[in-house]
Amino acid sequence: MCGIYGIINDKKNQAAQTVLEGLKKLEYRGYDSWGVAIIPENGQKLKIDKHIGKIGDATTNLSQGSIALGHTRWATHGGVTDINAHPHLDCTKKLAVIHNGIVENYQEIKEELLEKGHQFISETDTEVIAHLIEEKSKLKKINEAIFETFKLLRGSNAIAVLDLNSQTIIACRNGSPLVVGLGNNQYFLASDVPAFLKETNKVYFLNDGEGIVLKQSGVTLYDLETEKEKILTPQTLDWKLEDAEKGGYPHFLIKEIYEQLTTIPKTTSINEKEILELANKIKSEYKVVLTGCGTASYCALAAKYFFAEAGIDAQSIPAYEFMPFSKFIDEKTLVFAISQSGETADTLIAVKEAKKRGGQIVAVVNARGSTLERMADVVLPVSAGPEIAVVSTKAFTSQLSTLYLLTTAVRDRYKIGQEKINDLSKVLTKWLNVQLINQLITLAKTLMDEEHMYLIGKHLNYPATLEFALKIKETSYIHAEPFAAGELKHGVITLIQKGTPCFVLASNDEVKAEVLSSAAELKARGGLIIGISPFESNEFDILIKTPDLGDLTIFPNIIVGQLLGYYLGVGRGADPDKPRNLAKSVTVK
Ligand code: F6R
Repeated sequence: MCGIYGIINDKKNQAAQTVLEGLKKLEYRGYDSWGVAIIPENGQKLKIDKHIGKIGDATTNLSQGSIALGHTRWATHGGVTDINAHPHLDCTKKLAVIHNGIVENYQEIKEELLEKGHQFISETDTEVIAHLIEEKSKLKKINEAIFETFKLLRGSNAIAVLDLNSQTIIACRNGSPLVVGLGNNQYFLASDVPAFLKETNKVYFLNDGEGIVLKQSGVTLYDLETEKEKILTPQTLDWKLEDAEKGGYPHFLIKEIYEQLTTIPKTTSINEKEILELANKIKSEYKVVLTGCGTASYCALAAKYFFAEAGIDAQSIPAYEFMPFSKFIDEKTLVFAISQSGETADTLIAVKEAKKRGGQIVAVVNARGSTLERMADVVLPVSAGPEIAVVSTKAFTSQLSTLYLLTTAVRDRYKIGQEKINDLSKVLTKWLNVQLINQLITLAKTLMDEEHMYLIGKHLNYPATLEFALKIKETSYIHAEPFAAGELKHGVITLIQKGTPCFVLASNDEVKAEVLSSAAELKARGGLIIGISPFESNEFDILIKTPDLGDLTIFPNIIVGQLLGYYLGVGRGADPDKPRNLAKSVTVK
């Protein structure tokens, strides 16, 4: 939901160009429009360049300067137009504001400002921030004016302001991420680390209620409530530049799909003490509730099956449907909040509610320094590294692997669990070969012009169908509908006609025969049956063979969905890294 990137002391005096390049690394956060503002060398006025559409290979002719601020937008208030693109200026044109979030009370603020004679040119909620700061700065120092304005904004927001007079960038955070990068006499501000990772891995993640002032002489942290300075203690991340680059792959999505061969086994080195303590709590009758949104909610559902195998009656509740069930949370409930970004608004709302009711929050999270991480009592960092493609892949498999390991600990089989995950990655590495890829490309060509596809699976392969179908929908825009195999006869079968593509996700498990008889029913109605399975069957017209990994067969079965979605998307001319209408982290309700 919108990317923020600013720099002070650009060594090449090309701050606008540097910001533009960094914004390209944040484009996954929103790609409706982009914009950059710069304080030009010896300039009396800010210079701005903003456009609708993806940044892609955009360039900017903005003048030389060493301080600039930019934004990539996922539109909420106001359509996708050049005028609504950020940054937004105040009436004096000496302040440029960019914003990630929604100002829930912007109408009230706007009315007051209109009465005072301010002129608005955009339809955005962001523009009110610029004018309110201008109004307050008539009586106060600029950082006080910004902090006070920010405290009046309702909702989850992060703002960054470029101020010509003081030659500073000032930013505040409440609910939307901001991180400061501390380089060699250069300072950066961004929504996410990849923007400046090329320059520094020494960072400080702002907490809610903190403000930051970036000047040529350095960086100062503030407590927004008291407006007093605070000590800033940076951390050094172990991220490498390659983590935020495509590394020879045509898209981040395919790079991240392949990265799973190393990210999945990495989960076996997660803090064992933490896992064993959680396992002991679960064995001592703590309830288990799993939550998340989208792909993370499918991970929650899959984990519920793993917990059931371990004899635990876990609940999985999508975060956006959490409230009616929150009354069942108490001090003896472990709430596993699953998230790649750790910033998803619905997940955070569920977590807040669970905390209020005394639940203990376990964050199963990928991005470091996130809001979720700070809210949690226990953090299980899944360490898949930066996931840049909007579509989630490697974060999902690492989260699922982590939760699987936890369930093995509950069964007192943690070491065996670790071995199984390590073996899984070895088997996947062999399986993910050129032959498989060629088969998937051929299949993608066969299915390229389809409008509808259906998927069935049972038990662990049911959440697998949900995730598989989501990958197809997000990446190729084909309607792919997943069902529990058992649901088929209760209505769904009406949708099947001659040639309708039907994926059957299967494993060598106790429900194999049932799934195959559902496949036979689909076939009898003329469906084109595509088996995703470790075994052959007469019911399958096409078979994508996956390795036989027992309950872990769900991993390769889902990876087929990720790859097929990718090749279908590429074939249909979609951008696999930035599907239309989506943003990487959904920080609004
Ligand atoms: C799907 C996808 C989304 C996210 C969902 C939650 O590929 O990326 O469905 O899984 O928006 O995001 P996080 O995991 O950041 O909380």
